[in-house]
Amino acid sequence: PSVRRVSDWDADRLAGLAVEHGTPLYVQDLDRVRENSERLREAFPDADVRYAVKAHTGRAVLEAVREAGLDAECASAGEVDRALAAGFGGDRLHYTAVNPPARDLDYVVGVAEAEPDLTITVGAVDTLDRLAERGYDGRVCVRVNPGVGAGHHEKVRTGGAAKFGIPYDRAAEATRDAAERFDVVGIHAHAGSGIDPDQLDSHREMVTRMGGLARDLTDPDEGGVAPVDIEYVDVGGGFGVPYKEDAPALDLPAVAEATREAVAPLPAGVDLAIEPGRYVVADAGVLLTRVNTVKPTPDERVVGVDAGMTDLLRPAMYDAYHPIRNLGGGRESDGSDAPAIDDRSATPVTVAGPICETGDTLCTDRALADPVRGDLLAVGIAGAYGYEMATQYNSRPRPPEVALDDGTAAIVRRRETLDDLTTVERDANRNRADRT
Ligand code: LLP
Repeated sequence: PSVRRVSDWDADRLAGLAVEHGTPLYVQDLDRVRENSERLREAFPDADVRYAVKAHTGRAVLEAVREAGLDAECASAGEVDRALAAGFGGDRLHYTAVNPPARDLDYVVGVAEAEPDLTITVGAVDTLDRLAERGYDGRVCVRVNPGVGAGHHEKVRTGGAAKFGIPYDRAAEATRDAAERFDVVGIHAHAGSGIDPDQLDSHREMVTRMGGLARDLTDPDEGGVAPVDIEYVDVGGGFGVPYKEDAPALDLPAVAEATREAVAPLPAGVDLAIEPGRYVVADAGVLLTRVNTVKPTPDERVVGVDAGMTDLLRPAMYDAYHPIRNLGGGRESDGSDAPAIDDRSATPVTVAGPICETGDTLCTDRALADPVRGDLLAVGIAGAYGYEMATQYNSRPRPPEVALDDGTAAIVRRRETLDDLTTVERDANRNRADRT
């Protein structure tokens, strides 16, 4: 299927995992990660497909993606470190440096000494200078601000944002200059994240501009300047996934066809590259959470659960919609059995987490099969930017994750403990006590 909805998951299986491992609990299905990787490769058979590691950095996911033949696009030293550990060699590693901390540059330049096929994508001349200062003269890709963006929320529309990339009208010159100091192998732009079917025009416009730039750079007759011998045009990621139950899925083969048309004609020897994150992992994951409080008020019915914005930030940060399904299993407050889940009436509720902020809701005014205390809720399409954006705010240990792999379930990240919350300050505080 083009998307796995929360209703497609095996309810009994999820209920069993929640009992075994407790809640909140992330469940990630590696088979679906493989399927999504495969669908991308089929839709873009001639393109380099690079998985944007930030969407889900778990080791098991990275290994599945690597085995499926995708490269890794990393946003930090930490992600490069994880990708290396998961077996990606330098020739399959792309590091995108956005205002990179010195520590990250030092680390990645060090990695490049051992793995010279690694590529560093850079969106500011200043960053190129900082690489040169470190003695780096290896593979570089120039990130361009294409002047046009798309995405599910203004906070994730990168194209057009001054923060990212060299402005389009200066990109050709900057790329030619860079080629005098580095091995410039590509150009890159990323429109934004969560591009839905109605935003494909903006995406296509961005791709069209990048195709033009590629032809410009490689043109041997361009005003007497030396052509730059690039290997690829990377048009970023951003392919959206339908979170709402009735939202249409992207027609991936059609998007691929439109992308190929927009970038064409590509100069000889120049490939198309894409770097999707969400599309690979989002619908492969659910977050399970248990109802602990049901509070009818005159205005709304508030359903308190044990997962909140610390575990899944997207609703609080972007007003993002995540589908929620009540799997049942709870008891009425007097302890009597609740009706079977299919016999409950659809009731509008607010699902609220345990954090001390009003914005800590997973949904508002949503019709769910009337929840009772102890019910298990499955929050769908939580496999991308879910655990990745989790915090320990309110001193909350972060949840564990179970990976499903060809039918078998295994814990791939344990639940944090109260002890974990203080490990990084324990030694410092001991020294402090010694001093006084
Ligand atoms: N390439 C670059 C350079 C990026 O910055 C990103 C995402 C991607 C690829 C992958 O985009 P995707 O295919 O996953 O849409 N936390 C937000 C999403 C932020 C995306 C940031 N960059 C969310 O939860 O919606």
